[in-house]
Order: sequence, then structure tokens, then C-alpha cells
Amino acid sequence: MPVLSFLSAHTTGYYSPKNFNVWYLFGALAGVVLVNQLLTGIFLTMHFKPSAAEAFSSVEYIMRDVEWGWLIRYMHSTGASLFFVVVYLHMFRGLLYGSYKRPRELVWILGMLVYLVLMAEAFVGYVLPWGQMSFWGAKVIISLFGAIPVIGNGLTEWIMGDYLPGDATLNRFFALHVIALPLVLLLLVTLHILALHEVGSNNPDGVEIFDSPAPDGKPLDGIPFHPYYTVEDVLSTGVFVTLAAFVIFFAPTFGGWFLEHDNFTEANKLVTPEHIKPVWYFTPYYAMLRVIPHKLLGVLTMFAAIGVLFLLPWLDRGKVRSIRYRGLGFKVALMLFAAAFVGLGAIGAGVLPTAIETLLGRVLVAVYFGFFGFLWVYTAFGFERTRPVPARVTALLH
Ligand code: HEM
Repeated sequence: MPVLSFLSAHTTGYYSPKNFNVWYLFGALAGVVLVNQLLTGIFLTMHFKPSAAEAFSSVEYIMRDVEWGWLIRYMHSTGASLFFVVVYLHMFRGLLYGSYKRPRELVWILGMLVYLVLMAEAFVGYVLPWGQMSFWGAKVIISLFGAIPVIGNGLTEWIMGDYLPGDATLNRFFALHVIALPLVLLLLVTLHILALHEVGSNNPDGVEIFDSPAPDGKPLDGIPFHPYYTVEDVLSTGVFVTLAAFVIFFAPTFGGWFLEHDNFTEANKLVTPEHIKPVWYFTPYYAMLRVIPHKLLGVLTMFAAIGVLFLLPWLDRGKVRSIRYRGLGFKVALMLFAAAFVGLGAIGAGVLPTAIETLLGRVLVAVYFGFFGFLWVYTAFGFERTRPVPARVTALLH
């Protein structure tokens, strides 16, 4: 039976390193959030009206009149933010343990494509309730394309289907949000996991478990994914769902971080909100736009910030994967990089005083890109002093 052999190859027959730690939970949790978004999204679609005249009131109707509609909507809106929480932690794990390095470059590239599509999905989704931030966010972001020489203005109009975000924009964003992008996302996630299973998982020691086989050919430091890690993933899903429930029930807007207060007012093209800013997961990139005075340069910097992550497997020439055995330079650089990303996020969200934000922001942009330049020089020219990597994983448990 091809179905059964496929299932067993990816569960009981998939050997995972026995030393996974908490960082290895987030891939499965990302899958849980993905399923939550798809299911709650289907139910929202049943009552949502994708037109500029009706969208806002149809969301109010879901919140007030549809049985359990408020819960479905808050599960979906909270799920969107939690998706990024989980995915950012998942990506950071990749940096900590060098999971992007050979032979897992394709896993990383597919992950990055997932990240890109996820950002597009979240962006078009936020426009749908047609609140003030939906409208003005869409206007600001789509207008960025206007910075492209020659074709910029035509392109902006083409994307909007109008001179301002309007009915046509909402309608096409709905099509993208409910069918086109989710299909691509599902396909990419499937390929991401298949690519991983082709080469096997990395682990916190960055040691290849298949290099130490038992006499039966199975890796000495590997355990079958099912039941050992399925049980662990069920437990972590329980903890995660409990935490998510607290947000959904007690702080669904999360103080304006998950759903902005301005978005509870219907879109009005004659009234600009006081502060136009995207949801938190976009703010590091938004900060780059804000602190770079030239519009086109800002847009290019923003795209380059994402693009350079794709190149990571080839920029990092270090022989050692895990941060546990890497040189001090890498450890310091990675922490500075993470701090720069968070700092830019704070600037993009407008929580720092205006007086320091432009200068600090520029320094942080330099640190962000500097990380990649440093990493290449540090590893390609032999500056890194690594610690000896053990032959086998260092789990204490078995
Ligand atoms: C919907 C989003 C995503 C889902 C559902 C997903 C799912 C998974 C799963 C289930 C695993 C195996 C378990 C684990 O190692 O945690 C995994 C591994 C991995 N993912 Fe993702 N992923 C997603 C997004 C991303 C992104 C955005 C990146 C990076 C750009 C990425 C990079 C990786 C890497 C490098 C591994 C291998 C890690 C290792 O073996 O050490 N993933 N992913």
C-alpha cells in the first residue's frame, strides 16, 4: 500500500535525533497554527462579504450575531500573530544550530519562501475587515511600488485596480487570501517537510546522526519520530493552545498589537489615522522604510533585508553548525543581529522617542546587514575559532 508506506516512512520510519530541545517544537506548532487558520478561515468566509460597502459590517455581524462568530474571528486574528511568533522562533532556531547549512539548504530556501508567502497572506488578510488600518495600511504599502522608476505608478494602479484601495482591491485580496495564497502555502509547507525528511533533522549539537549507525543500519542517536516525538508534540500543542486561549479570551487585541484599535473604525478615505503602522510582525521592515530618507532606497533595503536571508547557507562558510561549538564572534554577532531585529521592530511600531529613532534606526539597519557581511568574512577567511565537535550527540537522557 503506497499510502501506508508513505505514512510509516514519515512517522515510525523517520529517525529523529534523540537530543531535540524546546527549540524543536516550533515546526509542529507552526503546523498546528496553519490548520487553525485554514479551519477558522473557512467559517469566517461563510459570513464575510468581500465588498467595500459590506465588509466592515459583515465582520461586526460575525462578532455580534453569528453563533460563536466572535470566537472564530478572534481565533483567526490571534492565530495570525501567533503564526509569526512561532515562525520567528522556528527561524531563530535555524540560526542557532546552523540548520540552514549543507545538506539542508533546500529546507531553508523552502522555509524562506513559506515566510514570504505568509507575509503576503497576512498583509492581504488584514485589508479584508476594511477598517481604517486596513485601508491606510494597504494604501501606504501598495504605494511603495510607486517608487519604482517608469512603471511604478502604473504598477500601483494595476495592483489596486483603482486610484485608491477600493472595492476592486478588496475583492482581489479576498481571492488571494482565501484560495490562491493558502494553496501555495500548503504546497510549500509540504515540500519543506519532504525536503527535511530527505536529509533528516539537524539537532542542537549539529552532529549528523546518520554518521553513527548501529549494526542494523539505524542511527545510534536516532529515535522513531512516532511515537516519541508525536507524544511530545501533543504535549507542547496542549501548552500552546492553553496560552493561546488566554489571549483569545482575555486579551484578543493584545493591547492593539494583534488587532489595532483604529481597525475597529470603518475605512474612510477622507480621514487619515494619526499613526499609520503595520501589525508588529512587519514593523522591523517598516522601520527600514522610515529611517531611510530616499523612498526607493528604503524599499530596496526592505527587500534586501529579506533577500539576504535566502543567501545565508552560502554566506556562512563555517564548518561547525551549532552555536554550542562556534566561535565567540558568531555568538556575539548573532545576538547583535537579533537585538537589531527587535530594536527595528520597536522603531517601526513607534514606541521609541522620535528624537532618537532615525539615528538609532540607521545604526540598527547597519548592524542587521553587517551581520551577514561579518559572517562571510569571519568564516570564509578562517577567523573563526571553533570548539571541537563531539562525534555523537550529547543527550544525557538515554
Ligand atoms: C508555516 C510555516 C512552517 C511550518 C509549518 C514548518 C514546519 C516545519 C517542521 C514540522 C519542521 C520539523 C520540526 C522542527 O525542526 O521544528 C521544520 C524544520 C525546519 N524548518 Fe520549518 N516550517 C515553517 C516555516 C519555516 C521557515 C519560515 C523557515 C526558515 C526560513 C523554516 C526553516 C526550517 C529548517 C531550517 C528546518 C530544519 C531544522 C533542523 O532540522 O534543525 N521553516 N519546519
